[in-house]
Amino acid sequence: MTHPLNVAVIGAGICGLLTTRELLREKQQVTVFEKSDKVGGTWVYDPRVEAEDLLGLDPNRSIVHSSLYSSLRTNLPRPLMSFSDFSFEDKFYGDPRMFPGHEEVQKFLEHFAKEFGVSEVIRFNSEVVRVDFKNDGFVVEWSTIEAGLKDEVFDAVVVCNGHHTEPRVADDIPGIKEWSRKQLHSHNYRVPEPFRDQVVVVIGNGPSARDISKDIAKVAREVHLASRSSDVKVSKVDGYENMWQHLKITRVFDNGTVVFQDGDSIEADTILHCTGYKYHFPFLRTNDLVHVDNNRVDPLYKHVFPPQLAPRLAFVGLTFNQRLIFPILELQSKWAALVISGKILLPSEDNMLAEVHEHYRELDENGFPKSLTHSLWHKVIISIFVVTLHIFSNIY
Ligand SMILES: Cc1cc2nc3c(=O)[nH]c(=O)nc-3n(C[C@H](O)[C@H](O)[C@H](O)COP(=O)(O)OP(=O)(O)OC[C@H]3O[C@@H](n4cnc5c(N)ncnc54)[C@H](O)[C@@H]3O)c2cc1C
Ligand SMILES: *[C@@H]1O[C@H](CO)[C@@H](O)[C@H](O)[C@H]1NC(C)=O
Ligand SMILES: *[C@@H]1O[C@H](CO)[C@@H](O)[C@H](O)[C@H]1NC(C)=O
Repeated sequence: MTHPLNVAVIGAGICGLLTTRELLREKQQVTVFEKSDKVGGTWVYDPRVEAEDLLGLDPNRSIVHSSLYSSLRTNLPRPLMSFSDFSFEDKFYGDPRMFPGHEEVQKFLEHFAKEFGVSEVIRFNSEVVRVDFKNDGFVVEWSTIEAGLKDEVFDAVVVCNGHHTEPRVADDIPGIKEWSRKQLHSHNYRVPEPFRDQVVVVIGNGPSARDISKDIAKVAREVHLASRSSDVKVSKVDGYENMWQHLKITRVFDNGTVVFQDGDSIEADTILHCTGYKYHFPFLRTNDLVHVDNNRVDPLYKHVFPPQLAPRLAFVGLTFNQRLIFPILELQSKWAALVISGKILLPSEDNMLAEVHEHYRELDENGFPKSLTHSLWHKVIISIFVVTLHIFSNIY
């Protein structure tokens, strides 16, 4: 490929910022499209919620991007939320705690964007509404309030639109569609006040469920956690007078009754779904070549490049785990930028597709559900195993 390439990056969250920095280091010409007026994506707290549609069911609803709640503090310490050459450990913006509040992370990302010249190439208030693959490149169409729709052709596109905005709800619980009391998804949870004196059922077992249930327990009459996992201990939650852990919900009734698999049943005011998010690329018109099926973005070589469109279309930041996010995103963005710039060559299209299918087979064999395709847990565990073996083989 000839230099410089004209590259569009969609989104100025962590992934967009990191990828842009790496592409600038490779002397590419980069334009970042960011629909909001700030950098930081998820870390830009937005007090608004999608009030008309608290479960996020209508694809035409007007969308609030961030899912942060007001009291959120990081669940990882500063050293694990640092970049290799831009540490969060020695930079303080008003909240020096080891697990700071969300404003601190947003300020850190703003500092990062300025430090590496990324801010200068961002077009704010510009929402990408269409990306169309044409022989000679990608047509990117975006909308701004002042100028309406515009489009431009790019040599390459990197998708960094985040994946904590489009709710996944527990809609397979018998009776839940007819349940007429309040329901919401954690995407639309901000503060505990609206739940004062209520009986609230929180569905889920991840960090959001654990965190939000504690936030609500400060004001609610009762909080009942429901988990699909059979590993949970059914009992009153330690340290709380008004919180209980249950197995999954087996049925709900229109009169407010919620029945749990452990035999308990209660009358609830609100059901709060902390059941995760879906990958969602409403602007992509390459659906025949990449599509989302049960939360698998398919097919993607190393979770980044669709073989048929590589290296001109890339997705940075789809992988997830709960222990190490920033460093993995940084490595992914470096690799993607070097591949796009032609410094690292990918295998042939057929070989990439074969490797993707081999990866799916491996997931299947290890009992990983399709919806966890982009989870890096098994890889992390395998890596720890390999490193341990390596250390031992050096000792003996
Ligand atoms: C509640 C919650 C708590 C978390 N806590 C932690 C934590 O403690 N520690 C940690 O390391 N990670 C945490 N994470 C993970 C977090 O998602 C990542 O840290 C990171 O923010 C992901 O960055 P991203 O760039 O992939 O996406 P995002 O931060 O979501 O950024 C995407 C950007 O794309 C923009 N965008 C989207 N669509 C368009 C479009 N069509 N056109 C233009 N712009 C668009 C958005 O406005 C946004 O700015 C948490 C996540 C959530 C949801
Ligand atoms: C959303 O809007 C599109 C275009 O205006 C329309 O075709 C579609 O039917 C709408 N979908 C829903 C669920 O309202
Ligand atoms: C709600 O309806 C169910 C099913 O009809 C019934 O078993 C339960 O007793 C009712 N609960 C209340 C509080 O009325």
